[in-house]
Amino acid sequence: MESQPIATTGGGHPRSGRDHARVAVLPGDGIGPEVTAAAAAVLQRVAAAHGLTLELAERPVGGAAIESEGAPLPEATLRLCRESDAVLFGAAGGPRWDHLRGDARPGAATLRLRRELGLCVNLRPVRAFPALCGRSPLRPEVIREADFVIVRELTGGAYFGEHARSGSGMDESAHDTMVYTRREVARVVGFACRLARSRRGRLTSVDKANALWSGRLWRDVATEVAAQHPDVSVEHALVDSFALRMLQDPARLDVVVAENLFGDILSDEAAAIPGSLGLMASASLNPEGGPALYEPIHGSAPDIAGRGIADPMGAILSAALMLEHSLGLPQAAREVRQAVDRALEAGILTPDLGGTSTTEEMTAAVLRALPAPATLGAGS
Ligand code: NAI
Ligand code: MG
Repeated sequence: MESQPIATTGGGHPRSGRDHARVAVLPGDGIGPEVTAAAAAVLQRVAAAHGLTLELAERPVGGAAIESEGAPLPEATLRLCRESDAVLFGAAGGPRWDHLRGDARPGAATLRLRRELGLCVNLRPVRAFPALCGRSPLRPEVIREADFVIVRELTGGAYFGEHARSGSGMDESAHDTMVYTRREVARVVGFACRLARSRRGRLTSVDKANALWSGRLWRDVATEVAAQHPDVSVEHALVDSFALRMLQDPARLDVVVAENLFGDILSDEAAAIPGSLGLMASASLNPEGGPALYEPIHGSAPDIAGRGIADPMGAILSAALMLEHSLGLPQAAREVRQAVDRALEAGILTPDLGGTSTTEEMTAAVLRALPAPATLGAGS
């Protein structure tokens, strides 16, 4: 099954006709460097074949930056991101830095990058790969036709609200506040409506309106925004029952929009459909423009880091999203997705997919499956 282009209107700013682009590469920690190297190799190859010269500039982030420069997001790393057309990100974090708190943590770099670059919309495409339908924990007939996009709000909600811990003994308490403004909800739901219109015209807005005040605001605003998009059919779903429905009947979904925490959890759960966290890609966009950030949804996977067996597909498919949303090369993005399908069909699988191949072998299989440069059309 050919997947649908997930891009189009609003957010992401394809610059057709350009011949040069600058990409910031932030490999980060654990398997981050292993998978970003794979994605960078694919990006370079495909961009060159389409007449785009890519300048890749690398900077440390996360734990690696704490070690080398004393902070998870050094100013020079942030500056490079701002001055680039797009950012390719690996992962931040690992047991070595687990004792750190607050802004000193590797993961603080991720949150600050989102805030500084205004990346309030996170796209996470979910589809079943034909070659892997038998490997999912779900039945092949349930997932075969699945092809949807989770749109997660990325700069609001509980992760960005006020946090505090106080008291002592058994009275010690902690709280995290989940705050949403009308503007924040309208922005992400509007983006999701435009995305749905470019696909199959169906939007599912997920909330917890029966229990949370922020959920009631979410539903009110989502209803109002949806009314401005009469060509999109909108349904509202409560997150708890939706978490089950998403796996029972994923084929009926087109675009799913959710607040930050719910979107985080739902998209990891949705990895059951392709069958591995290692296959899931993401794009984080500022609907008003500026550089977007592309990263696999998995973390630094300390349990397998350094062994050369990380699945590079999530990072490679994130590069495909970059080609489409930031570099103006949607045809190149399709070629990468097809090459990933062919490599998987050829049975070149890393251990997370039940195989014995290495990251390098899988990357080489994707590069081999790309169209030969001579057969490429000039346009995209
Ligand atoms: P994780 O995604 O790193 O790993 C979860 C499981 O999936 C592990 O068994 C891992 O080996 C496997 N896995 C993940 N990606 C894989 C790949 N590409 N190929 C093969 N197997 C893969 O999540 P976990 O263990 O919860 O977190 C590990 C560290 O990563 C923590 O420090 C966490 O804070 C950080 N993290 C960073 C993220 C980011 O930078 N965006 C996102 C999630 C976690
Ligand atoms: Mg997550």
